[in-house]
Amino acid sequence: MTQPRSEEPAAGLLLEAFDPQLFRENSESALGRLEKHLSDLSIRGLELIRPAALTRAAQALMAPDSDQVNPFDEERLGAILDLYIRTGIPVHSPGYMGRQFSGVVPLSGVVDFVSSVVNQPSSFYEAAQLPNVAEQLMAGELNRFIGFDPDRFTMVTTSGGSLANLTALLAARNDKYPDYWAEGGSAVAGRPRPAIAVGADVHYSVSRAAGVLGIGEDQLVKLPLNDAKQICMEQAPHVLQAAESRKLKVFCLVASAGSTSLGAFDPLGELADLARRKDIWLHVDGAHGASLLVSDKQRAKLKGIEKVDSLTWDAHKMLFVPAPCTLLFYRNGEKGQGAFRQQASYVFDEEPDIYTDLDSGSKNFECTKRPMIMPLWTLWSVFGRALFAEKIDYLCDLTAQAHQVVEQEPDFDALHRPESNILCFRYRPSDLIRADETHRLQVAIRNRIKRQGNFFLSKVNVDGVAALRVVMMNHQITVEHFRMLLNEIRKVGEELLHG
Ligand SMILES: Cc1ncc(COP(=O)(O)O)c(C=O)c1O
Repeated sequence: MTQPRSEEPAAGLLLEAFDPQLFRENSESALGRLEKHLSDLSIRGLELIRPAALTRAAQALMAPDSDQVNPFDEERLGAILDLYIRTGIPVHSPGYMGRQFSGVVPLSGVVDFVSSVVNQPSSFYEAAQLPNVAEQLMAGELNRFIGFDPDRFTMVTTSGGSLANLTALLAARNDKYPDYWAEGGSAVAGRPRPAIAVGADVHYSVSRAAGVLGIGEDQLVKLPLNDAKQICMEQAPHVLQAAESRKLKVFCLVASAGSTSLGAFDPLGELADLARRKDIWLHVDGAHGASLLVSDKQRAKLKGIEKVDSLTWDAHKMLFVPAPCTLLFYRNGEKGQGAFRQQASYVFDEEPDIYTDLDSGSKNFECTKRPMIMPLWTLWSVFGRALFAEKIDYLCDLTAQAHQVVEQEPDFDALHRPESNILCFRYRPSDLIRADETHRLQVAIRNRIKRQGNFFLSKVNVDGVAALRVVMMNHQITVEHFRMLLNEIRKVGEELLHG
């Protein structure tokens, strides 16, 4: 059938905006820009621009009249792309050691690019057939390393680890308080107040999720950490007991598999046994570290994972795909259906069939959801697990070597033996003693280094005192680059101390 074509000029411009050839030509020019960007392996941190200046630069790129369709301007698009690329964290540079954003496998961009054009929101099979099948396949692949019963477990993708944590806590609450969804807070009236136990170093998204659920801050039971900054198993049972005497009922315990600040792994097997004895749901926030499961060398750090109730796993961190791509696993698939208990005739079918069986809309918060599994599943299909395992092993080994380097430097203190790819340390020349001075110095060093723009690192408070933190996400980094970073820290530290 031939398409009717309007001769109106506005319709002509409308057609131009959707023109496949224009799309191809400009995609090619964008790819050229990205190739140049990826090939630049110079040592760079962040080029931090003042927001007002960046706003002016961005405003200058906006077409003056948006009340009519503007003719396509290739130069304007090119300038927007250049500014976008230039102002990001250069995750592919060896200077980038700062945060948990992946240096992504560039080919994931090819898949994401296709996702943006074919637009298949993935909460429902009928809208996104391959993504839903890919989710099932990927869940099975990754569960080989978790070890849940393959016939019972379930997995759902969510837009980020924070949302996965919230979803898991909801499922836990609805499991332990089946009337809560319908009756709200009155379901627990007159009973001990629901509480959640967390490792003292838990990611803020967990306490935020608790807040969303109406669990107040004083209903969060903080479990103390041992010297390795893992939940201390000697103290945990006593702290839970003490919570009970405060008329709190801990229904869920959240452990970390790779804490944000130090990458520490809580003792999952022991915690699972404790949780089972006390009828507590054990959720593991493995946003950072669950990916270590795919490596034969690292897997033991999550020993006992097969016994937990739910697990958050961010593929956009240590599986090196673009954000967001989070997988939320439940050991018991039926309980994974429990986070949301709703009817909606326009989407949730009353009579499920082989197609709607694959819908995830009832298990995830989002209605429209990016088909985020596609880059991960495609890379896994094309390259295999070993690609991820090799990169993870490299990054963990590199971090262990960096730790040794810090240990050998008399003016630096390593704060822990790294369990993954995160290392915290302080610059502390011997003439500096007081904790408050040490704190201020680390903060000032981090800020100056960020401004200088050669390296990008982060900071975190450890036991109340600031520490410098590197997160090795990029396999282009060598131990030599880390030595260069220490030299820069030392130079900046001396300047700050001696004027
Ligand atoms: C341990 C941990 N949990 C949760 C999150 C939050 O994940 P997201 O940024 O994907 O929402 C992070 C992010 O840094 C994290 O490190």
